[in-house]
Amino acid sequence: MNTAPVIGIHDLAVATGSRVLDLADLAYATGVEPAKFHKGLGQDQMSVPAPDEDIVTMGAAAAAPILERHGTAGIRTVLFATETGVDQSKAAGVFVHRLLGLPSSCRVVELKQACYGGTAALQMAMGIVARDPRERVLIITSDVARYGIDTAAEPTQGAGAVAMLVAADPDLLEIPGPTGVWTADIDDFWRPNDSDVAMVEGKLSIDAYLDAFTGAWDDYRAQGGVDVGEIDRFCHHQPFTRMAEKAHRRLAEHTGVDLPLETFLPSTFYNRRIGNSYTASLFFALAAVLDADDDLAGARVGLFSYGSGAVGEFFTGIVRPGYREVMRRERTEQMLDARVPVSVADYRALHRGVPRDTTNDITVDAVSAGPFHFAGIVGRARRYTRD
Ligand code: CAA
Repeated sequence: MNTAPVIGIHDLAVATGSRVLDLADLAYATGVEPAKFHKGLGQDQMSVPAPDEDIVTMGAAAAAPILERHGTAGIRTVLFATETGVDQSKAAGVFVHRLLGLPSSCRVVELKQACYGGTAALQMAMGIVARDPRERVLIITSDVARYGIDTAAEPTQGAGAVAMLVAADPDLLEIPGPTGVWTADIDDFWRPNDSDVAMVEGKLSIDAYLDAFTGAWDDYRAQGGVDVGEIDRFCHHQPFTRMAEKAHRRLAEHTGVDLPLETFLPSTFYNRRIGNSYTASLFFALAAVLDADDDLAGARVGLFSYGSGAVGEFFTGIVRPGYREVMRRERTEQMLDARVPVSVADYRALHRGVPRDTTNDITVDAVSAGPFHFAGIVGRARRYTRD
C-alpha cells in the first residue's frame, strides 16, 4: 500500500504595487494604437511600486494573510524566488522573516533563474515536506518587472508577489509527479549586474519560450505525464497574457488536440491588470483559475513555468475538494481596485526615481497604504519597517 503523503499548495495569497498605470494612457503618450497593448499584448494595466515598495514589502504583504490563517508552526523554511534581488548577498526573505516575526529556527534562502525561480522553490518545498510531512514551507515569489523607458518592452512591465504555503494534505492543490523539464543556454532576456532594467531580445524570447514549452511538455510525457486531453485548465507563464495564448495554440498544434481557449482564459484575469511579475506571474494565473466561478474540485490544472536564459518546466496539480473554503477573489479584486492611478509622467518619474546608488544614506517616506515599507538606506544597508 502506498502511504506517501499527498503534498501540494495548502494556501496562497497575493499582493501588488500600490500604483497603477492604464496602458491606454501609455499608448496615447507614445503614439501607439491602444489596441496593440489591449489585443496584441493582452494587457490593460500595469502595477507600479511606490517609492517605499519593492520585492520585500510586496512579498511580506502577500505572506502576511497566510500566517494569519495558519500561524508559524512547522514553518522551518522560507524560499524567496525573485529576479529583482535587492542585495547581491543577503536573501530578501531574511528581511521578510523579521517583518513577519517568523521563528529563528528557520532557514531562508533566495532562488534565481529569471521568472522560473518560483517553480524551483515549489519543487524544493515538495521535497522538504516529503522528507518530513510535519514541516510546512513558505514560498514567496515577488518581482518588479523593469525595462527601459521607450522600449518595445515598456508596456510589459508590472509588479506583484504571490506567497504560498506548501504542506502535506493541502487545502488547495495536490501536486503529483511527474514533471517535465527543459534547459538551454539562450540570451533572450537577462540583467547584467550593473543594470536595473532587463536586456531583452523580444522576438527571440518568444521563440525560446515556445521551444521551452514544447520541450518541457515532451519531457513531461516521456516521464509518464497524462495525456493533454486529461488536463482541464491551463496556466502558462504570462510575461503578457497574449504570450499564454500563443503557448496554448502551440500546445494544441504540437499535440494535435483541440484545446479550447476557455481552458486557459480564466488564468489571465489578474495578469491583464498587474502586468509581468516574473516569478509570481504563473501563480497569479493559478490564483485567477482557483478564484474563477466554476467549481474545479477534482480538476487537473496544467502549469508551465518559463524563465529566460532559459529554463522551462511543465507539471500539473489536482484541485482539492475543499479549495473554496477560503474565498480570495474579493480581497484580490479590492486590492487591484484600490491601486492609485498614476499618469505616464508620474510613472516615469517613479521608474527613474528608484535609488541606484547606496553610498549615501537616504530616508524614504512611508507613502503607500502599507503595512510594510522600504524606509531607506543606512550604512549601505536597506531598512524596512512594519506599521
Ligand atoms: N491592434 C491589434 N494588434 C496589434 C496592433 C493593433 N493596432 N498593432 C500591433 N498588434 C499586434 C501585433 O500584430 C503583434 O501580434 P502577434 O504577436 O500576433 O504578431 C502584437 O500586437 C505585438 O506587436 P509587435 O510584435 O509589433 O510588438 P513589439 O515588437 O513592439 O514588442 C514584445 C512585443 C517583443 C513582446 C515586447 O513587448 C518585449 O520585448 N517584451 C518583453 C519580452 C517578453 O515579454 N518576452 C516574452 C517571452 S520571454 C518570457 O516569458 C520571460 C519574461 O517574463 C520576460
